Amino acid sequence: MSQSSQLAGAPVICVVGARPNYMKVAPIIRACAALRPALPTLLLHTGQHYDPLMKDRLFEDLELPDPDVNLGVGSGTHAVQTAEVMRRFEPVLDQYGARAVLVVGDVNSTLACALVAVKRGVPVAHVEAGLRSYDRAMPEEINRVLTDQIADLLYTTERDAAANLQREGIAPERVVFVGNVMIDSLRASLAKATPPAQTLAAAGLDATAIAAGYGVVTLHRPSNVDRRETLAPILDALRAIAARLPLVVALHPRTRASIDRHGMNEALAAPGFLVLPPQGYLEMLGLMANARLVLTDSGGMQEETTALGVPCLTLRENTERPITIEQGTNTLVGVAPEAIVAAAATVLDGGGKAGRIPEYWDGRAAERIAAHLAHWLEKHQGESPR
Ligand code: UD1
Repeated sequence: MSQSSQLAGAPVICVVGARPNYMKVAPIIRACAALRPALPTLLLHTGQHYDPLMKDRLFEDLELPDPDVNLGVGSGTHAVQTAEVMRRFEPVLDQYGARAVLVVGDVNSTLACALVAVKRGVPVAHVEAGLRSYDRAMPEEINRVLTDQIADLLYTTERDAAANLQREGIAPERVVFVGNVMIDSLRASLAKATPPAQTLAAAGLDATAIAAGYGVVTLHRPSNVDRRETLAPILDALRAIAARLPLVVALHPRTRASIDRHGMNEALAAPGFLVLPPQGYLEMLGLMANARLVLTDSGGMQEETTALGVPCLTLRENTERPITIEQGTNTLVGVAPEAIVAAAATVLDGGGKAGRIPEYWDGRAAERIAAHLAHWLEKHQGESPR
């Protein structure tokens, strides 16, 4: 067999590591399988997230197959986690002779696997390329900038991303505007979303508490949750809002650990809070879709609320997803308690943004990626990407 016909049967390795990666990769794997001929894929989990609540439930909800390979890296400092993914990924890449490596988003696993692949001469496709917060204190920003620099194909969710990439010297022919794969998952799953009352009842909470409306809260950015001096005022603001609107809080393990470490358990015991462990995808979708308001520091939820038309208050000073502000339902409120409380009051008094759905957030982004990638691989088969 010639080298290029051997390669033609080799898989595209699709990498997931942490929770927000799953909803992006699920539709891509399905779209690759639906091509004629199908584009073979191999699902690799780095093990960055490993708790059943952070992984297994989401895999089930998204109908993702079990990973073909799990590197089992677990938690650690950024250096340890990134290095461990790289060390364990390299032999796997060699073993499968991958045709390309597809990475999504901006987590440590994204950068680690892209870096290994590129140095092995394997083409790298980055999905959700070109987003920039211009905040280099954010670990994800470093992962985004570096992954985009080394990727061969950069699939973007919004048109402005191309300008960000061009400013960083990235050739326009490597950039392809495809839309938002996260919204593919949302649209495919919305009809199956779990009713909020059912989610609360399953957690042993009083579902009648949300009968007259509720808000949803998620917080996990290290800059917000790791230190008492930032977390305590945010929780104060949430308590003030909870006095008016019940708040369902889905607590990330990082935030739970910080609350425990700082002895702040009382903060979420106030009336008006309904505290849940990390939720499945269908539960979160049901909670968000029916909420009057979402307060979050998540990247993905800024996009999901825009797609759902639900007002979102982002508890950060910046966002890499400005389209959710310009076109969607998102408002950047920062982390000053007075600003958070005032912004929530505006929404509850009827001033929430209605927004519109951005271009190509139409449920078909993964189809565009699969078709483009298959064509590109066909054309470049056997060439060194660089
Ligand atoms: C990671 C991503 C972030 C993403 C988030 C979603 C990076 C740099 N950050 O942050 O972009 O928004 O995932 O959740 O990649 N832990 C568990 N169980 C798990 C995984 C983690 O208990 O299954 C604990 C760990 O002990 C760790 C903490 O949660 O201390 C944070 O996990 P980590 O993967 O380091 O980063 P995230 O904060 O989740």
